[in-house]
Amino acid sequence: MISLENDKIHLIHSTGNSTTVSTLGATITSFKDSHGNQLLFLSNNCQPNKAIRGGIPIAFPIFGKPPSDGPYKQLPQHGYARISNWSYDGPIMDSDDGVSIKLSLNSPPQLPPATLTYTVTLSAHQLTSTLHVHNPSSTQSLPFQALLHTYHLANPHNVGVIGLNGATYLDKTASSNKVIESRDIVHANNLTDSVYLSTNDHLQLSNGVKIRKHNFPDTVVWNPSESAKNMSDMHKNGWNQFVCVEPGHVNDFYSLEPNCQWIGMQVITIPQ
Ligand code: BG6
Repeated sequence: MISLENDKIHLIHSTGNSTTVSTLGATITSFKDSHGNQLLFLSNNCQPNKAIRGGIPIAFPIFGKPPSDGPYKQLPQHGYARISNWSYDGPIMDSDDGVSIKLSLNSPPQLPPATLTYTVTLSAHQLTSTLHVHNPSSTQSLPFQALLHTYHLANPHNVGVIGLNGATYLDKTASSNKVIESRDIVHANNLTDSVYLSTNDHLQLSNGVKIRKHNFPDTVVWNPSESAKNMSDMHKNGWNQFVCVEPGHVNDFYSLEPNCQWIGMQVITIPQ
């Protein structure tokens, strides 16, 4: 079942699991299993005219701070997609196989043209989000980075990320030194801002939640820890309630050829 409530679209699957998508940033703000257990963190202190703090905001066409030069140098951190109002284009399917909707966004004027489409599909035990990037130009290639900034609701002291052992990462908390991960379970219970390069497409949280990604070679693991007290949109001790695992294409800029399309996907599977 699909229902609309102001800027929110609610999806309920016949198994009873549910998700909510806001047209602000096409941000998924809730994903509950059939027992009503929430799987995504959402701050109680989200602020108007700012990106939603929690759920799954989309970083596009840049990840992190803007480059010092080039067409994206005036963009805010993580780009325009998460702070833009997307169009709700309607349902794609609503059956026992899955409940699926589509949203879209065109790039603001003055920037390299891009047409974004985002599909969110809820099925038994799974939430799938797929970002389609189309380059409408017939002459210019489209450079971009993209990332699904996923806030998993979990205590970072107890729940870590499995599947990163052996991957090289840039530690943004330590002047981007390259480090090879040697932990089987990565806990983001201290200040953590690690950009893992070319990671396995199958990752898992130690609470059993599975993460599958496609066309997102990199994975960012982030938690601001105590420094979150300086974030106006984070509720008190909110950092203690999430583990951010963010599939993305962020190590470099992807170059999308004229008239071509790129698709990146994340599938989150609930333990059964
Ligand atoms: C992560 C970045 O993806 O997002 C961090 O690696 C950043 O460097 C974090 O601090 C949160 O960003 P923002 O803009 O939502 O506060």
